[in-house]
Amino acid sequence: MSILIKNIKELATAKGNKPLKGIELSNVEISNDQCIAVEKGIITYVGKLKNAPVCDEEIDASENLVTAGLVDSHTHLVFGGWRQKELQLKLEGQSYLDILKQGGGILSTVQSTRDESEEQLYVKGKKLLEEMLEHGTTTIESKSGYGLNLETELKQLEVGRRLNKDSKMDLVLTFLGAHAFPKEYKDKHEDFIKLICNDMLPKVSKYEDVKYCDIFCETAVFNVEETEKILTIAKELGFKVKMHGDEIDYIGGGELAGKVGCISAEHLIQSSDNGIEAMAKKSVIGVLLPATSFYLDKDYARAREMVKRNMAIAIATDFNPGSTPNLNLQFPMMLACSKYKLTPKEALSAVTLNGACVIERGDEIGTIEVGKKADIVIWKAPDLNYLFYRYGSNQVKTVIKNGEIVVKR
Ligand code: NIG
Ligand code: FE
Repeated sequence: MSILIKNIKELATAKGNKPLKGIELSNVEISNDQCIAVEKGIITYVGKLKNAPVCDEEIDASENLVTAGLVDSHTHLVFGGWRQKELQLKLEGQSYLDILKQGGGILSTVQSTRDESEEQLYVKGKKLLEEMLEHGTTTIESKSGYGLNLETELKQLEVGRRLNKDSKMDLVLTFLGAHAFPKEYKDKHEDFIKLICNDMLPKVSKYEDVKYCDIFCETAVFNVEETEKILTIAKELGFKVKMHGDEIDYIGGGELAGKVGCISAEHLIQSSDNGIEAMAKKSVIGVLLPATSFYLDKDYARAREMVKRNMAIAIATDFNPGSTPNLNLQFPMMLACSKYKLTPKEALSAVTLNGACVIERGDEIGTIEVGKKADIVIWKAPDLNYLFYRYGSNQVKTVIKNGEIVVKR
């Protein structure tokens, strides 16, 4: 089955397969009256109509912006339950870390995830993925981290694996066993770290499709020394490493991400100048999550400073049941403009090519170029500026995933 998207009003895409660093972030080409042909899941032609191949199906995009499918490079997709009860606690003035310290927050989701069957988690995950696709997301990273014991961490990863196989979405799996200290290790932190290093990491490293290891480096969670130890062992076992760093408090996450050589460091709300320098120097991609700042009512990461200091940045949702129950990537894209002061072109690169590079898929996805996977969004918006300006409504018209129309609105 081949498809020709023709008369495209505005085609907006980055180019290439490498993360765009610093001022390169705005290297997005805008062109008009273009066509894209796709066949067998691959983009086979981008150019003017007169040279376009004849296809089985044609879509007229004369009123539409067209971009690559969005890449959500930081999500916690698979979890049991929800946490709407915490809304009241927040309104009463309790902070995110207060709730966690009392055994709520992440730990309450750990309980629900342990309690639910693989099937329950799978059915829920599948629905969430459909919702993500409807909002233009075509590839996601999915972290474990709500098991905090081997059995449940593996259950979450297995759900992600099955969803990758059965759903239209592509999923990339990350092990986040060091997401919090579980209640049974509340007063035995060293023992839990030993369990992660000596048991969980070696066992999870055997799964070829779990290439990444993440950790929550934060006050009252894993401190800098513990994070360094765990990530160093993870690297020795062959994982590429990531961290949730400088999210709530500044404890030197950015500096450590540079020192350890993380592929990405995520949140970075409180990162220092030195941290930003360290990450830029080691080509750590900053995954910024403005919808989390919004929902926790916190500061926003210093994205402009990161761009100025030549870091590569990506934007993602952080979809999870606690700090960010939003899975619509269009919302953090809008916040990236209004709060980070990124331009629409910069924010687009951050959710396409740079997002793809966070999960090492830059060769396959993230741009509209011949040879890349046909993951394409046709927007109700006529141009890129409009997409970032009409916040609050889902602006997706059509989503093509692997060369197949999977959403039509
Ligand atoms: O990225 N900070 C750690 N993990 C998630 C939140 C997880 C949760 O609250 O359930 C985050 O914000
Ligand atoms: Fe997160």
